[in-house]
Amino acid sequence: MVLTGAGISAESGISTFRDNGGLWENYSIYEVATPEAFEKNPALVLDFYNQRRRQLHQVQPNAAHLALVDLEAKYDVKIITQNIDNLHEKAGSSQVLHLHGELFKARSSRNPNLIIHHETDIQLGDLAADGSQLRPHVVWFGEAVPAMEEAASLVAHADIFIVIGTSLNVYPAAGLVDFCKPNCEKYLVNPEIVYNIPKDYRVIKEKAGIGVPALVKELLQKGE
Ligand code: OAD
Repeated sequence: MVLTGAGISAESGISTFRDNGGLWENYSIYEVATPEAFEKNPALVLDFYNQRRRQLHQVQPNAAHLALVDLEAKYDVKIITQNIDNLHEKAGSSQVLHLHGELFKARSSRNPNLIIHHETDIQLGDLAADGSQLRPHVVWFGEAVPAMEEAASLVAHADIFIVIGTSLNVYPAAGLVDFCKPNCEKYLVNPEIVYNIPKDYRVIKEKAGIGVPALVKELLQKGE
């Protein structure tokens, strides 16, 4: 099992949220990433995600995404990502669970289960099949995380758990690091100190593009 956050896509050119110069330094969460923000100023919220979606057409997976694909040669690799980009899929990973939604999907603002594939801008007036305004298929602050139950169960059954590029600031996702069984091998890849990580994780203090390929090489050798 692998849990990824914004840091794994940083070297592909996508900003993280809480680092210096991160997205939440330039935007207020309360203005662009809550249901209340969408009610108050839907055009601003749509524009924020339209910019992210446009950027996604320009970026490519990096060495860390690609290494996780290589790991599938010997392991049953399942990725839980907090990211709304599609770089794990673009790299070729076959099992990816998106906890916080996907930029290339849109949904009805009335019915969370009415989801369509959507790679272009969403404008005010673009309607879902039920006649409601289309909105990005992303989990906003204050909304439920429907994939959480499945994610928790996957982590609880894992033999190896690798946590990459997340500050572990956002719950419930951050709580997944405590769900492993006692004999699970646990790794953290992050160039910075992550304060919420339990003490029994082996910390690889490197950027994902260096630390993940090195760890994958080690695990593949071990699996021989
Ligand atoms: P954050 O921006 O909170 O944290 C990014 C983490 O990536 C930090 O711990 C950095 O040290 C690390 N990092 C930076 N560059 C890296 C690199 N090259 N390689 C590896 N790690 C690197 O992002 P997340 O933890 O993903 O949710 O944030 C979680 C959630 O908060 C997001 O899914 C999003 C956000 O608000 C929603 O919008 C609901």
